[in-house]
Order: sequence, then C-alpha cells, then structure tokens
Amino acid sequence: MADALKIGIAGLGTVGASLVRIIQQRSNELAVTCGRPIKIVAVTARDSTRDRGIDLTGIEWYGGPVDLAQKADIDVFVELMGGAEGAANASVRAALARGLHVVTANKALLAYHGVELATIAEEKGALLNFEAAVAGGIPVIKALRESLTGNTISRVYGIMNGTCNYILTRMEKEGLSFADCLKEAQRLGYAEADPAFDIEGNDTAHKLAILTTLAFGNRIAADDIYLEGITNISIDDIRAAADLGYRIKLLGVAQRTETGIEQRVHPTMVPQDSVIAQVDGVTNAVAIESDILGELLMVGPGAGGNATASSVLGDIADIAKSQPGAQRVPALGHPAAALEPYRKAQMQSHEGGYFIRLTVQDRTGVFASVATRMAENHISLESIVQRSKQHLSPSEHQTIILVTHATTEDSIRKAVSAIKTEGYLVGEPQVIRIERPKAG
Ligand SMILES: NC(=O)c1ccc[n+]([C@@H]2O[C@H](COP(=O)([O-])OP(=O)(O)OC[C@H]3O[C@@H](n4cnc5c(N)ncnc54)[C@H](OP(=O)(O)O)[C@@H]3O)[C@@H](O)[C@H]2O)c1
Repeated sequence: MADALKIGIAGLGTVGASLVRIIQQRSNELAVTCGRPIKIVAVTARDSTRDRGIDLTGIEWYGGPVDLAQKADIDVFVELMGGAEGAANASVRAALARGLHVVTANKALLAYHGVELATIAEEKGALLNFEAAVAGGIPVIKALRESLTGNTISRVYGIMNGTCNYILTRMEKEGLSFADCLKEAQRLGYAEADPAFDIEGNDTAHKLAILTTLAFGNRIAADDIYLEGITNISIDDIRAAADLGYRIKLLGVAQRTETGIEQRVHPTMVPQDSVIAQVDGVTNAVAIESDILGELLMVGPGAGGNATASSVLGDIADIAKSQPGAQRVPALGHPAAALEPYRKAQMQSHEGGYFIRLTVQDRTGVFASVATRMAENHISLESIVQRSKQHLSPSEHQTIILVTHATTEDSIRKAVSAIKTEGYLVGEPQVIRIERPKAG
C-alpha cells in the first residue's frame, strides 16, 4: 500500500471534531477506498486544554495554525476555523506557499480571497478543495466544477441557509411570528446568538458568490450581490403566499442574462408544487439549470458536524487518490487566469413575476388607483385582490394583494413609488419576487 496521506487540521470545533472522529473510526475502510491510509498527524485550535470528546493521542498539537501550516510534516492542511481574514487566511496562504494541498469549509475565505488562493494553488501544483463551503454535505461544488463540464449553465439557485429556512418553515407551519421562530431557532442551536449574518442574507451571499464563479467562469464578486434578508417577512405574507399557491424561501439566485450576471439573495415566492418549495427546516437545496442536462436539484443537509465533515472527508479522499504530478482540476473550475471580469446585470433590469402586498386606508378609489399605477408602468396583473379584514391580521385597514406577470424590477419600483405618493398607504409596501423553476 502507498504511503499514508498525512493531514494537519486547524480548528477542532463542530466540524473539526467530527472529522477527527470519522477518520479515526473508519481508518481501515478509508485506506482501502483511497489506496492509502489517511493519517491525522497534527492539529491545532485556540484552547489546548478543552475536552473535545476526541482522542488526540499520538497527534502533535501546534501552538497556532500558521505554525502548523509552515512546519508540520503534512501533505494536506485542513482549515476548519472560519473567517475571511486572520488565522484562516494566513494559514491557508502559508500552506499553499509550501505547496501543500488545502481543504477548507470556509465560504467567507473563498468568497473574498478565492481567486488569489486558487492562483497560488495552481502555481504550486496544489489542490484547493472546498466542497463543504457551500450547502454543507451537498456535493454541489464537485457537480459544478467537474460533473457538468461542457454544459452551459443558465441559472443556479438554492436554499443555502438552514437557519432562514427553519424560521420560514416554522412561521408557515405553526403560524408563529418571525421573532418567535428566531428565538426558537436560537434555543435549538440552529441560529447563532447574533443571527444577523444568517437572517440578513450575508451567509447565503458568500455561498452564492462561489457558485456563480463555478457556474459562469467569472471572477468572484461577493460584494456585488443584491441582498435582502428575511427579517421583513410577516405571517401575513406567508399566509397570502399560501393562498396564492406559493411558499416563501430565502433563495440565492445567480443567473446569466443578456446584460450580464444577476446575483441576488432575497425572500422569494416559489410555486407550492415545485420540488424546492417542499424543502423544509434546516435542509438545503441547490438547483442548477443547464443546456445539456436540463435541471438538476440536489437536496440534503446543509450544516452540522457530520454532514459538513462528510464533504471535507470527500475532498481529502480526492487528494489521497490523486496522482502526484498529475493534471489538477482548477479550484474554481476554470484556470484562475482564465476567469472573466464579473459583468454585473443591473437589478433594475431583473425580469420576473412579483407579489406586492399593500396595506391601505379603507376608502373608495384606492383599488382602482393601484390598478391604474400598475397599468401606467405596463405591468400586467395575474391577480389583484382586496382582502377582507378577517382574513389577515385584524386591523382598521384593507390589504390589497397583487401578483404580476413577468415584468421588470424597474417597472415595479416606479409603480410602487407612484403608489406611495397617493397618500392612502399605511406602512411600507411589501414586494416579494417570484421565481419559477424551469421544471418541477
Ligand atoms: N458548523 C457547520 O455546520 C458548518 C457547515 C458548513 C461550513 N462550516 C464552516 O466550517 C468552518 C468551521 O465551523 P465550525 O462550526 O466547526 O466552527 P466552530 O465550532 O466555531 O470551531 C472553530 C474551531 O476553530 C478554532 N479556532 C478559531 N480561531 C482560531 C485561531 N485563531 N487559532 C486556532 N484555532 C482557532 C476553534 O478553537 P477552540 O475550539 O479552541 O475555540 C474551534 O476549534 C467554518 O468556516 C464554517 O463556516 C461549518
């Protein structure tokens, strides 16, 4: 049997500890599958005294990740600490500079430094694998990077944040408010004490930026993403969506358009009978639409120690099986130098259907005025209904709900601005984009 593949792991938290456990428990099977043993020889974390429920006997403990990356006698540096900057960034660079292969689950690092890191990896003939960085256990990186080579991809979208999907699912199923569902998610450990990063959509945006590059071959543009979180979604929206045959999901969507690439993260109405609408709770889903294959939808666990470690282990196993000196699959699917500048499509030119919920004063002429403003902006309506007071949250006001046929973001914004000047609106209008899967 070939020599063991020696790995060093920086970060022994949820994912790191699971990885150590799995590699140790399955060492015999892994050796057979990979044709060589996988051996953990070095580790590090912040606190060397903490009991992590894993056996670190015979494994060298390093004082810091950069130290480990620079000095340990390893073939692969596994980064499981997190964060775009600091220790994760410095240690991954140090490892690549030495020509070590790198495996990471760190979406923030990839979203902000992926192109640079991929360039160094290519120069050094090293592999930079990051399957766990997007949608945890779902093998979407490999699908885009390798399996779909030759396909022209038109759209990639998905539910990539379990916290948001859990909250939206609970709101719908239990009729609870956003705030109550967030508290529940925090109590169950699905949401961080500071949940902003998840619920404002940033986490999904980092993952989307990586998928966009793999799908369209552009340089990563993590700061060029239209972003709306779910904090604004009310139980009234969820009920109205259900009545109209839709569910609300936080989607990340990357789409090729005539004017460039659209990258957007926002609450989205998806048809109730679509497969993605059935993805509930903390589960993730990623859909890829391409010309040869058609639509591919992958559903599975997007987070958690074992699910994430499963992807990390797959990346390590790929390295174990790779031949020294062999042609490497470029980290970002295309050689880093061949990535094109990101050509951003303007959000104003986004085309699609829209759901609009207006709370209005209960007076004559309002309904007609709303319809007129829509018509003036060439927006054709699929439906427009005035809800009775009993139907939605009781109030002194009326609710008007509109669903449009495909139109542009620009037209919608103009129509809504015009409605705002009429003086009958109570509170801010709610506007939710509708996304239709190509099939099923
Ligand atoms: N958890 C998930 O479900 C999941 C899913 C997909 C991707 N990921 C990604 O996986 C990575 C790890 O996540 P996690 O949930 O395992 O995080 P975690 O539980 O917070 O663990 C982080 C680990 O990194 C160590 N660490 C942090 N800063 C360090 C530093 N400066 N020097 C040395 N060690 C340091 C911590 O040490 P101490 O233990 O001593 O504090 C801890 O062991 C992140 O990039 C995350 O985005 C996680």
